[in-house]
Amino acid sequence: MTSIAVDTLRGWLEEQQPVTILDVRSTQDYAEWCIPGSIHVDAYDALKAHDPAALAGVELPADQPVVTVCGVGRTSQIAAEQLQARGLRALSLEGGMQAWSLAWNTAEVPLHENMARVIQVRRTGKGCLSYLIGAGEEALVIDACLNPQVYLDLAKSQGWQITSVFDTHIHADHLSRSRRLAEHSGSMLFLPEQQRVSFPFTAIRDGNTRASTSMMLTALHTPGHTAESTCYLLDNALLFSGDTLFPTSVGRPDLEANEEQARGRATALYHSLHKLLALPAETLVLPGHTGTPVPFDGVPIVSTLAEIDAQVGILHATRATFVQMTLARIPPTPPNYQRIIRLNEAGMLPDSDLTELEAGANRCAIS
Ligand SMILES: [Fe+2]
Repeated sequence: MTSIAVDTLRGWLEEQQPVTILDVRSTQDYAEWCIPGSIHVDAYDALKAHDPAALAGVELPADQPVVTVCGVGRTSQIAAEQLQARGLRALSLEGGMQAWSLAWNTAEVPLHENMARVIQVRRTGKGCLSYLIGAGEEALVIDACLNPQVYLDLAKSQGWQITSVFDTHIHADHLSRSRRLAEHSGSMLFLPEQQRVSFPFTAIRDGNTRASTSMMLTALHTPGHTAESTCYLLDNALLFSGDTLFPTSVGRPDLEANEEQARGRATALYHSLHKLLALPAETLVLPGHTGTPVPFDGVPIVSTLAEIDAQVGILHATRATFVQMTLARIPPTPPNYQRIIRLNEAGMLPDSDLTELEAGANRCAIS
C-alpha cells in the first residue's frame, strides 16, 4: 500500500490513531487550508524537480505511518516514495487536499437532558457546518453539505429517522445536498421563501414553526447575506445562524449584487442582526461556516449571543457605519460561486467529482 484514501485517513483521525501528516505544498497553499494537526514542509518545487534531498532534513517518527499531502495527490506520491526509501511507512493521500474537501467530523453540543440533541457535522476540509438535530425517533438536518449517506448513517446510529431537511439560504460556496438528502430519506424539504429555485420545496416564512412532540424549530427571516437568508431557533434556546452571524464576524452582503444592491443588503443585514441580538443573551449560536480547518476534537463550534455581542465590534456601530465598514471589508469572491449558485437554484448535484467545483475555503463572512 503506497496511498491512503480520504475516508481511511478521516477514520484514523476520528479514532485518534497515531499518524504523522506531512503537507508538502507551498507555504501560501498551506496557509489557505490544511489538515488539522499536520506538519508543513515547503518541498513542493524540490519534489517536482525529483530532488532526492527534498525531504532530507525532515525528522519524522518511525513508529507511526506518515501520510504525505499535496494539492491533488501527485507530488505527495513522490514524497511518499522518498520517505519509503528511508524505511518509513509513508502513504500518499489520494486526491490530495482537493479530495480532502469532503472529509468531515462531528461534535455534539452539550445540552440539558430533556432537550433535543444537536450534532454538528463539520466538513473540516472546507469549513461548512451542518446540523443533525434529533429527539425521540425523529431528526432534522440543517444545511446538508455532505453526501446524504453521511447524515443517514449518523441518524441511524442514534436511532433517528430524518423527517425534515432545511437550508438557511441558497448557498454560494458549496453545493447544497439538502434536496438529495430529502429525496433519499423521504423527508420534507424546507427552504426560505424565494423565487430563486426551480424545484419543489415547502416555503418557510418568518415566524413559521415546525414542531414535533419533543422539539420546536422557529424560522427567523434575516435578510442581508442573501435576501432569503433565514435563521432557525430551536426550542427558544439555540440559533442556527447560517451565514448571517458567526462567532467573530457577520455575513457578506455582496454576492451577485451591484454596489447599490450590496448597500441595500448591508442595511438589511444590520436590521437582521439587531433582531437576533434581541434574543436572550444566553442563546447558543451555531453558525453555517467556519474560516479555519475543524479539528477532530469533538468540540462544537458554538458561542453564546453575549459572547458574540462582546466579540464582534461592528455590531455596536451605527447603521451608517455598519454599512460602510461591512462594504469596506468584503473578502475576495469564492471561486466558481456563480456556477455553484446556478446549480443550487436548479437543485442539481452533478454526479461527477464535485470537489473541483467547490475548491477553496469558505468566504461567506466579511473579514
Ligand atoms: Fe452563504
